[in-house]
Amino acid sequence: MIALKVEAKNAQSAIAFLKKKSLLDRGFKIFRKGQLVYLPLSNKNHSDKPEKGIAGLAKRLGGEMTEERFRKADRNPIPAVPAFYEKASRGYDLLGNIAIIDAEPKAAKKVAKAVMLNNKNVETVVRKAGAVSGKYRTRKYAHVIGRRNYTATYRENGCIFEFDIRKTFFSQRLSYERKRIADASRGKENVMVMFAGVGPFAIEIAKHNRLANVIGIELNRYAYGAMKRNIELNGTANAEAIYGDVRKEVKRYENWADRVVMPLPMSSNAFLEEAASAARNGCRVHYYTFGGKDTAFEDAKAQIREFFSKQGTRARFAFGREVRPYSAREIEIVIDFIVRK
Ligand SMILES: C[S@@+](CC[C@H](N)C(=O)[O-])C[C@H]1O[C@@H](n2cnc3c(N)ncnc32)[C@H](O)[C@@H]1O
Repeated sequence: MIALKVEAKNAQSAIAFLKKKSLLDRGFKIFRKGQLVYLPLSNKNHSDKPEKGIAGLAKRLGGEMTEERFRKADRNPIPAVPAFYEKASRGYDLLGNIAIIDAEPKAAKKVAKAVMLNNKNVETVVRKAGAVSGKYRTRKYAHVIGRRNYTATYRENGCIFEFDIRKTFFSQRLSYERKRIADASRGKENVMVMFAGVGPFAIEIAKHNRLANVIGIELNRYAYGAMKRNIELNGTANAEAIYGDVRKEVKRYENWADRVVMPLPMSSNAFLEEAASAARNGCRVHYYTFGGKDTAFEDAKAQIREFFSKQGTRARFAFGREVRPYSAREIEIVIDFIVRK
């Protein structure tokens, strides 16, 4: 069949031109031989208006018209998630049956279709329609394509979680942290998860370490209810959901915890007093916070040091890592420290 042969470096602009003019035959596969790319042409008259048409383009791109044999294209090719989207490195989140994209409204449909076709379990695609905000750290979502369902059934590190994405915070991007902390929990220990959400930290720790006695404290009534259901779903009776404000609930757990998890990066520093009060001597605290790309660790350590020195106790830094980028200038980090009383 008739084809346009162009140098590989010019292939993208030639493809864009042919698509625009409906001259590319999508029933056949484009292929490359060495530095040349062969584009199958549809059955139009390619020789009229040579200066404007393919012949003109071929000339401009230093390519030429030729006869070639092509392999048939797949019937339903799965489109790649558009390159511009991957490039923006904002990626997308997969919460089992729901995918969350972060695209402009104009591009959302195109991205959503590609994400859905590339991920067989996805039935619904929504886009972020605002920032995480408020005391419950929730976000607004706009439906893009698929079933209008907002209840995610999401599996992570051998556990299962069900929750309405509109009513609670949840981030798949913390899965590594949850595994890291669950793996670190060994033997009999009391674990306090402050700001527990629907229970991912608490449940993963309780499932991994059946000897751990875990509590998860949560202020958002919906998230608390979902945590209770998730504890049942996962058969983790060694985890308990507690509804309430950390500031108040912690009073019942003075000198109780061997491990404290503080996943509220927006304002963990405002809860150091609660962590210190719950901690036994030797307790390990997992402290999440946001900070400048170059200064986050030093700033957070200075704050922690200052707080404990005022208290007359000590914090020994044991570990730190960047958890994820947060904005153009900020990152989320975690610092693990040991409390010496
Ligand atoms: C960033 S989310 C983390 C949720 C969960 N740990 C996770 O990783 O998915 C913080 C959670 O803390 C809860 N929260 C905020 N202030 C609180 C407080 N004073 N006491 C208890 N929970 C609080 C919010 O409702 C929200 O669910």
